[in-house]
Amino acid sequence: MAAVDRVLVVMMVLIAMLAIGFNTVSADPDLLQDVCVADPTSGIMVNGFTCKQNAIAQDFFFAGLSMPGLTNNTFGSLVTPANVMQIPGLNTLGVSMARIDYAPGGLNPPHTHPRATEIVFVLEGALNVGFITTANVLITKTIQKGEVYTFPKGLVHFQKNDGKVPAAVIAGFNSQLPGTQVLGATLFGASPPVPDNVLTKAFQIGTEEVEKIKSKFAPMK
Ligand SMILES: *[C@@H]1O[C@H](CO)[C@@H](O)[C@H](O)[C@H]1NC(C)=O
Repeated sequence: MAAVDRVLVVMMVLIAMLAIGFNTVSADPDLLQDVCVADPTSGIMVNGFTCKQNAIAQDFFFAGLSMPGLTNNTFGSLVTPANVMQIPGLNTLGVSMARIDYAPGGLNPPHTHPRATEIVFVLEGALNVGFITTANVLITKTIQKGEVYTFPKGLVHFQKNDGKVPAAVIAGFNSQLPGTQVLGATLFGASPPVPDNVLTKAFQIGTEEVEKIKSKFAPMK
């Protein structure tokens, strides 16, 4: 092989490695135009949403994070999303936000975001937060107003308000639609239901216990 050819091959391998590297660090695919405001009424299925014509300011705007969400529910917490479903202008841009409010004692129960890393900024109060690695190591900390914590993409995580006053965070995600699977609801509230004999064996418990847990999640669907 000529020296010039070898240099070309090395360059191509390097470019391919860089491309793979960039793909693994960015959650959503890169964009190919300035804006692609989601058109959810289009019948065409693509990875994301097709673009509507004539973007306007309202397509990029959302006021829904300005007020605390109601936390008078089973878990004492409420997630208010600000993703492509609320802000169609986020389509193809690879970012989104949420606000999470917590009553005293409130829990955002263990869940994962299959498509995004999350970073939270504490607006009010204090939270006991943590994520669990694939080696089952719990990485946990108490975070206070003004502080930031990170939950790596795909890992199970939670936030709990152990304080006596309400707490709130603003969350950022590197996906226009991070997706959420809450472990309890996913396994015990799925429709059609996950078979009892899968859950009895998985959790090493009896059918009665499985049915009891399922009954707690059934009304939340
Ligand atoms: C929560 O509080 C709001 C406003 O006070 C009320 O309208 C709603 O019914 C309550 N929800 C539950 C589940 O208690």
